[in-house]
Amino acid sequence: MELSTAVVERRTIRHFKSDLVPEQVIREIIEKARWAPSWANSQPWELYVVIGDTLERFKQINRQKYLEGDSHPSEIPMPTEWPDPLKKRVTWVGKSVLESLSITREDKEKRRRYYGDVHFLLGAPCMILVTLDKGISIEYAMLDVGLFMQTFCLLAHEKGLGTSMLAAAVRYPQVSRELLQIPDNQIIIIGTALGYPDWDSPVNHFKRERAELSEFVKWIK
Ligand SMILES: Cc1cc2nc3c(=O)[nH]c(=O)nc-3n(C[C@H](O)[C@H](O)[C@H](O)COP(=O)(O)O)c2cc1C
Repeated sequence: MELSTAVVERRTIRHFKSDLVPEQVIREIIEKARWAPSWANSQPWELYVVIGDTLERFKQINRQKYLEGDSHPSEIPMPTEWPDPLKKRVTWVGKSVLESLSITREDKEKRRRYYGDVHFLLGAPCMILVTLDKGISIEYAMLDVGLFMQTFCLLAHEKGLGTSMLAAAVRYPQVSRELLQIPDNQIIIIGTALGYPDWDSPVNHFKRERAELSEFVKWIK
């Protein structure tokens, strides 16, 4: 697959098949993704590949906590406000997801159930959880994690797999901390759902948008 094809085709998968991803395939993706750049080659990312019964338990508790309205803060603060024009984009994607599933704005119960599904990792059979050492200078390390994860997601796409980077996966850090035995010196950054996309689901097909270059590029001559 051409790199440019992978970059443009990759999309957040919001409904996965239950088919398991062979461990060897996950390993091959990580072996390549580790070639992502990082500050002074520090490679600060630490990965937990979570599958099987532990993942099932994680998904159930994570969803339950959301449905119960648990307001425990995540370790990476969630954005609470968006400046214009970002606000419009954020609202647009939320609306597109719900519309593709025929969930109206007024149908609070269906919306709640869908967001519950997001906390259930959209049915994915695997989660890659990334942590960092708390002793690190977090700003650049976050860039490093972003580079690693995008590389990971593109490589997964190349293999016919789908990914979904999910802040919702790290919303209740105490759940993963206990289930995965993450030590106190680690900060929990992001979880990514991994699995085979269910291409029959309309939520994996809605038309995505991107800003025009004129909105964010300044040419300095
Ligand atoms: C750091 C990060 C966290 C995200 N967290 C969530 C999330 O909690 N729930 C969700 O539905 N999508 C989440 N997403 C997916 C974004 O909504 C998605 O990347 C964006 O709409 C662009 O769409 P695309 O990935 O299909 O190109 C997250 C993406 C990133 C990069």
